[in-house]
Amino acid sequence: MGLSTKSNKTLYPHFFHLSGIHPELPKYEVLSVLESESYSHQLLKNSNQCLVLKCTKEGANLAAERAAYCKRSVRILYKAEVTEEKVIKLAEKILRNIDFENIMVNYKSFLVRVYRIGNAHSEFNSMDLEVAIGKEIWDKMAGTCEVDTKNPDITFVLLFTQEEFLFGEEIYARKKGSFVSRRPDKRPYFKPGTLEPRFARMMANLSKASTKNFLLDPFCGPGGIILEGALMNCNIVGLDIDKRMVKGSIRNIVHYKPNSQYHIFVGDARNLPFQNNVPSIATDPPYGRATSTYGKEVEDLLEQFFSEASNALVTGGVLAIGMLDEIPLEDIAKEHNFDLSIFEKIYIHKSLTRRVGVFVKK
Ligand SMILES: C[S@@+](CC[C@H](N)C(=O)[O-])C[C@H]1O[C@@H](n2cnc3c(N)ncnc32)[C@H](O)[C@@H]1O
Repeated sequence: MGLSTKSNKTLYPHFFHLSGIHPELPKYEVLSVLESESYSHQLLKNSNQCLVLKCTKEGANLAAERAAYCKRSVRILYKAEVTEEKVIKLAEKILRNIDFENIMVNYKSFLVRVYRIGNAHSEFNSMDLEVAIGKEIWDKMAGTCEVDTKNPDITFVLLFTQEEFLFGEEIYARKKGSFVSRRPDKRPYFKPGTLEPRFARMMANLSKASTKNFLLDPFCGPGGIILEGALMNCNIVGLDIDKRMVKGSIRNIVHYKPNSQYHIFVGDARNLPFQNNVPSIATDPPYGRATSTYGKEVEDLLEQFFSEASNALVTGGVLAIGMLDEIPLEDIAKEHNFDLSIFEKIYIHKSLTRRVGVFVKK
């Protein structure tokens, strides 16, 4: 991924603690958000569930807030290999290497949290380490600040990866259950076959949907993907061949984001009313199983859709698409003037493996 610029602000090392649910997509999602909103960034390290980047605080906040599979972003204050054997030694080492007086100058309360990737360095008990680091900070600050577990002014995070530990100031942390209120069964209009909100959010991000532009889903169904786009403050355009879906997705969008800029209409994804003016498409076409393909074989439908998408997208525009594993998406995309960015298989259950492909119009 390239480097883009939002401003000439200084870039600081940050780590993004990612969900382990998919191997590569969460990293790609964070990078896509930064690119879509033109935040400068520089990749430093890509390891299991942890992406280390140089970026601004604003970029680290926005990317973690938007990216569905990012748990938190943290500005790195110190990192090292794990060589100590005792909790207290590790806590002392961190304190020796960080200018806490300076960092805490505007804060009255703090909290320390310890996380690990898998069972990395499980020889260190998380709670013991949180207490030890907290005590060191408290001592260093001569009791001028206190630990607050509910609403601290600043949270320090230590993350153990297999290779090292990273310690820093938390910039954004996703609240548990932040997608629950939008689960398909909780929406005013519900039909089977709609994506879970977290997955739909990732699809919107992978398409590099931007607040400066609009996001198109030409098989919008009950509106799972465009709803996430609306909540990201993008203008959204959705169409579906079934007018019940169009009505239903409008109900869902208006329920969750009453003031969103949307345009949702009955239409056919094989005949799109766009020409070289769409920046981002995120979509999950019918699989020919539960959802109807209106008598067309899925592969034919996709052939025609890719041809239309290629006409509709601007050069460099992005198509993020979900599909059954057995459909040769890469071949279809190549035929229609797309480059492949990333492709990942996603196991859903015994008889369904989905693939997510991200393609860029040449
Ligand atoms: C899997 S659903 C989309 C679900 C949606 N991504 C969500 O998360 O809510 C596929 C939708 O494609 C629609 N569809 C089928 N053929 C179509 C076509 N040629 N043009 C537009 N929509 C079509 C179906 O009516 C169905 O609502």
